[in-house]
Amino acid sequence: MIDLGDRHPLDEATVGSFRARGHAVVRGLASPSELAELAPPIVELGTTHAWDTRPLEERDTYGKAFLQSFNLHRADERIRTFVFAPRFAEVAARLLGVQSVRLYHDQGLFKEPGGGPTPWHQDGFYWPLPAERMVTMWMPLVDVPPEIGTMTFASGSHLLTDLRGTRISDESQELFASELRARGLPLDSHGPLAAGDATFHAGWVVHSAPGNPTDRMRPVMTVIYVDADARVADVIRPGQELDHEVWIGGLAPGSPLGDRRNPVLWPV
Ligand code: SIN
Ligand code: NI
Repeated sequence: MIDLGDRHPLDEATVGSFRARGHAVVRGLASPSELAELAPPIVELGTTHAWDTRPLEERDTYGKAFLQSFNLHRADERIRTFVFAPRFAEVAARLLGVQSVRLYHDQGLFKEPGGGPTPWHQDGFYWPLPAERMVTMWMPLVDVPPEIGTMTFASGSHLLTDLRGTRISDESQELFASELRARGLPLDSHGPLAAGDATFHAGWVVHSAPGNPTDRMRPVMTVIYVDADARVADVIRPGQELDHEVWIGGLAPGSPLGDRRNPVLWPV
């Protein structure tokens, strides 16, 4: 029985890179044999439980970027093992520099054959929590070759508190493209990744991904972690309302998070 309970070595350079640039890669975080057991249910449910399965041409830019599924850990014990992995959560806690992290939620992000690019955006736009205390693990379940490509990050953009955009859309793409140009921020990618490698990105880092011109699906599983002591933020943007209701149960601003919706994943 796989439990992903051991700790993964993490060097100081990786932690330093995450803090300074807002992203880092951790290679070999899950092994081929672990993925052989845990990836198939994610790949299956990530497709059947996607919230928008209309043909690609009927979807908007955001919809074309990926098939999106949420909190798959509730549907399958093996997916729960993956999402609740102490090994992954401990890395998240160390990168954030906190004692303990909770689950915000998990998401399958499957870029389909012919799927569009993921426009420049910041995840924190949607979150009713202090996004500077949050990190997303993005783990491909298959090898991602150069022709599909992984995310590009605007390094250091997570530290710029005056750099804020809008929901994921053609508009966010345009706005951030011109802001990033004007500010001269370096654009970095970790290049092709193997299944089981993972990138971690900060809640406010601006990021994007290329479209998928191949005939192969790009199944990626993400887990979003939040400092366990974070309090609910004021809901100041319409984009936060859905997340506030669905992922933290509409808790009042200033409240601590609850264990049922947002369990502590590290320490176990
Ligand atoms: C992607 O999977 O293409 C983008 C993921 C993200 O925006 O976090
Ligand atoms: Ni994102």
